[in-house]
Amino acid sequence: MANVRLLRSGLLVALGFAVGGLFAAISGHSSASAQGSGAVPPAPPTMADVQHLKDITPPMSHPMVDVGFNATNLYFAGQKKNWPLANYFLNETRNRIRWETDLNSGPKGTDGKPLDMKSIFDGIDNGSLTQLKNAIAAKDSKQLGESYKHLLEECYSCHKAANRPYLRPQIPMEAAQTIINADPNASWPQ
Ligand code: HEC
Repeated sequence: MANVRLLRSGLLVALGFAVGGLFAAISGHSSASAQGSGAVPPAPPTMADVQHLKDITPPMSHPMVDVGFNATNLYFAGQKKNWPLANYFLNETRNRIRWETDLNSGPKGTDGKPLDMKSIFDGIDNGSLTQLKNAIAAKDSKQLGESYKHLLEECYSCHKAANRPYLRPQIPMEAAQTIINADPNASWPQ
């Protein structure tokens, strides 16, 4: 899991360099022609370059791996009644779902047509994510537990709509992030 995350982060960095290189090539091209320097302009990107970018693009599931990670951390921060930490992981979860909906604009739905990911995100944003935010603000553990279940139901309804009924979430059994202390009364490090 950690290795996969590292590998995917590495790929993102590589992609950044590749895109940067392409832009540099394109802007170098236009400034050379604008100056009329007569220098041979670098070749514009080819289909092979585009294919290369596609090959090194991380899989669409990358943000979803992060969603699972952050939603797990949210659960354990809530269990410890560490409200600021729970709020942090709630925001992270929300951002990653939104990232997924931006990146993966249309996985095929059960009717074979692209899913309207944006509307599904808006529904969750106004649904369980808002409930969770309110529960955290009110420091209400019971409400947090119920809203969390509601969140998992909403996660699953998108997975089913996206033809992935086998991705059935559950209340997490183990914390995913153990280097951050979820205990709100911890006293070290100072
Ligand atoms: C808007 C739709 C949508 C929502 C909402 C959503 N998911 Fe997903 N999820 C997907 C899709 C689509 C995939 C498959 C990604 C792929 O195959 O490219 C996926 C895959 C996953 C995976 C597998 C990732 C992997 O490849 O290892 C996990 C874990 C996951 N989702 C967790 C969650 C959790 C937890 C929530 C709720 C907090 C959630 N998802 C909400 C659409 C959604």
